[in-house]
Amino acid sequence: MADSTETKKPAPPKPAKPAKPAAKKEETKSAVDTLWSRRDFFSYSGWAMFSAALGLSSLYFLRLLFPRVLFEPSPKFKAGNVADYTVGEVSTKWVKDQRTWIVREEGKLYAIYARCTHLGCTPLWLRTEGKYKCPCHGSGFTMDGINFEGPAPRPLERLKVEIGADGQIVVDKSKKFLFEKGEWDKPGSFLMA
Ligand code: FES
Repeated sequence: MADSTETKKPAPPKPAKPAKPAAKKEETKSAVDTLWSRRDFFSYSGWAMFSAALGLSSLYFLRLLFPRVLFEPSPKFKAGNVADYTVGEVSTKWVKDQRTWIVREEGKLYAIYARCTHLGCTPLWLRTEGKYKCPCHGSGFTMDGINFEGPAPRPLERLKVEIGADGQIVVDKSKKFLFEKGEWDKPGSFLMA
């Protein structure tokens, strides 16, 4: 029989909990760091996107303050001096760049717009034949611009001419003079020369 007075054996000491490895702490720390750096990243990217959007909308707003302007070349050009042109001749010097013939007759000089009044092609000055001939559908015009053959319905148009402050001829292509409206005798449609 067991002895009831037997002293109880002391409980064996509990094994000490193993200390958490330092690596685990480091792991936790780095996970926290990663989390924060992710937060930072998203925070910074959010600000960056916000700033970019703000910048773009500001630019758009500024753009609205300035109207769209089409910068076209001036309709005026200087065509040299009256003495540069020979009486009885059509000068083709400005056809390529300005689509304009300068004609000098006895006592006057005028500019003709080199645009066919049929469908807008550029006629050619045929010196030997003394006429402008349109290569598109064959319209013909006399030296002073009157239509006489082909489908062109009316004479060529003349352009405004004046003498500038420096004594040169100034041709203004924005102002046209039409024969059928009786405008070829109006001031500005020719120069006394
Ligand atoms: S465009 Fe000149 S004749 Fe037709």
